Formats: sequence, C-alpha cells, structure tokens
Amino acid sequence: MNLFDVYPINDVTIVKAKGSYVWDDKGEQYLDLYGGHAVISIGHTHPHWVKRIEEQLEKIAFYSNSIKIPLQQELAAKLGKISGKEDYQLFLCNSGAEANENALKMASFHNGRKKIVAFSKSFHGRTSLAVAATDNKNYIAPVNETDNVIFLPLNDEKALEECFTKNGKQISSVIIEGIQGVGGINVADLSFLKKIRSLCDEYGAVYIADSVQCGYGRTGKFFSHDFAGVNADIYTMAKGMGNGFPVAGIIIAPHIKSKHFQLGTTFGGNHLACAAALAVLEVLEEEKLMGNATLVGKYLRDELEAIPELKNVRGRGLMIGFDVPEELKDLKKNLLWNQKIFTGEAKPNVIRLLPSLALKKRDAEQFIESIKEEIALLQETAS
Ligand SMILES: Cc1ncc(COP(=O)(O)O)c(C=O)c1O
Repeated sequence: MNLFDVYPINDVTIVKAKGSYVWDDKGEQYLDLYGGHAVISIGHTHPHWVKRIEEQLEKIAFYSNSIKIPLQQELAAKLGKISGKEDYQLFLCNSGAEANENALKMASFHNGRKKIVAFSKSFHGRTSLAVAATDNKNYIAPVNETDNVIFLPLNDEKALEECFTKNGKQISSVIIEGIQGVGGINVADLSFLKKIRSLCDEYGAVYIADSVQCGYGRTGKFFSHDFAGVNADIYTMAKGMGNGFPVAGIIIAPHIKSKHFQLGTTFGGNHLACAAALAVLEVLEEEKLMGNATLVGKYLRDELEAIPELKNVRGRGLMIGFDVPEELKDLKKNLLWNQKIFTGEAKPNVIRLLPSLALKKRDAEQFIESIKEEIALLQETAS
C-alpha cells in the first residue's frame, strides 16, 4: 500500500529531537524554527513531558468519557489559572479543526442561529464547518459549500458593522484568529477585536477566538486575543497544547450552558492526552516560557527589521512573519539545505517562524547570522 499523497514534503527523515534541535537519519543536526506547524511549544522531548507521559502510560492510557477522569479536572484548573479564564468551562477533543467545529456548533446550539462571520485569508481546519469558514476554495469540497458563512476583509470595521446591521439577528458567531497563521502572519487589529466583542454583545452573537496556532503562550500572552483587553466567548486551542501529543480543546464562557449529548468525543480528554497537556502547562509556568517568547521574539523582530531586503516584519512573541522579495525566493529552501534551519512559509512569499517558546537567544542569533549569509549568497549569484 502507498500513502495518499496530500502534501509536497521536504526530502528529510527526522529520527531524533531535543529542545529546538532535530537530527536526520544521517546524523545531520537542524535548528527547528517551525516546530512541525507550530506544535512544539516547550521543546522537543522535554524531560518533564516525557516523564509525565511515561508514568501515565504505566498506569492507564485510555478510558472513555463514561467514567470520571480526575486528570481532566486537574487540567481545567491549571488551564483556568494560567489563562486567567478561571470561570470558563473546558471541553477536550483531539485537533484544531475539531475544536473549531465544536465551537461553531456550540455557538449555534446556544443562540439557535446559522450564520458565521469569518475573514479573508482565514484558516480554521479541514472538517465541514471549520473548512467552510476557511478562506481557501481549494480546501472546500462541494459537500462543504454553504451559504451560512459570510467572509469579510480582515480589520475592516466598517464592513463588519454593515454586516451586523444587515444580518445581525441571524449571525450565530464570529470566528477569528488573533494572528492568522496559514494566511501569512496577519495580525488582527486590537480595535477590530474590540469591535467584534461589542457587536457580538449588541446582537447576541458568539465571539470565537481561534487560538489553535496563535494561542498557548506563543505571543507572550496566553491567548493573543488577550492583547485587546476583551474576552471572547469561546477560545479554541490545539497545536502547542500537547507539545506533539494530539490534544485539543475549547473553553466556553460561563453564560453558555452545557446540555447533555450536544458535544461528545471518544478519544478527547483521555488519560495520556491530559498527562501531556498538564506537563506542557507545568513547564510553561516553571520555565516562564511566555516571558521568553516575548524577549526572544522581540530580539528576532528587531534584527529582522534591520535587514533591508526583508519587508513587513510582523507578528507577536514567537509568531513572526516577513515578506521575501522575488529575487530571494530560494531563501527558505537555502536556509534548510545550506544552514540546516527549518522555517515555515505562507504562499506566495512569506517566511513564518514558529519555534518552541523555549528558543534560546543564542539560537535566535545563529538564525540571524545564517539568514544574512544566505541573503548575501543569493545576491552574489544574481549579480
Ligand atoms: C488557526 C488554525 N485553526 C485551525 C487549524 C486546524 O488544526 P488541525 O490541523 O489540528 O485540525 C489550524 C492548523 O494549522 C490553524 O492554524
């Protein structure tokens, strides 16, 4: 049997990983500034994370949600404390798409409405509602097509107001990434997030903060939406939550009430997933990784801004993007093959940095030296 070919891939086989480094099957070491799609939050194979999972594995790995799982309550308490959303309610699932699917569905159960407002260049996942709210026609199969999603330009307050004036009483939810990831590191304006909050309040719609990529401390605050100083009704999370162990969740504001059987899952919140997620939060707190993300992120952004060839450096904390001009289009590839550094991309010309939140300053310095070197080499070959 062959694999179903869904992505173009890099010709490299990673067999070992530690902190911000990975090694291939030939023993070559790479600096990982991508974290496998922003997943590695506390660092690859962090010893506390490994120990927590191993110890849990020896006891019990899985039982379904038909029994009490105290680890879930422990996780909810810790998450409430670190995120500052102690009065929210946690529902655990397995992936980012599933988190968004449940959030959109829960909003609709709550207010009985059907319309969803989403934004240009959004990415919310591949399941039916999540993909319908994703602004990329290539991902939407005919069966996912719906009139229920209204796409608006990101950060256009006037368009948002007009949309609510016209459809307000039908709008169930507004879903927005605090910083768009797949779309190319586009930061939602803080005044725009405040406007979403006030319009949702006025019209009884649910504000959903997709924090799958930009959440979990990556921007220096637990949720990047928190920079706006207003709360969302539902936050969705995944990627960094398990540091590579598949675990996801949504937290739901207290005014949204649960009703039996509206949401459910077989694997969500299993013992092993909770152990992994708890280990991540413990390390985030113990090693003050949100502070590190702020500091090292600022260093990287300042240094990148000082490189004249790179345009429009943007982001927060350790979620950074910049535009690469056409004549340097091989930069990402050359960073990987010449400098042994993994970075991410967004079409057509954006390099995305999504390293572990424990990225060390000296690794960031190495990256800056390497990128300058590769830019100079590309310019030399062009001239
Ligand atoms: C903002 C955002 N939402 C949702 C998803 C979907 O997450 P998953 O691939 O875990 O389903 C992603 C994945 O890249 C994402 O970046």
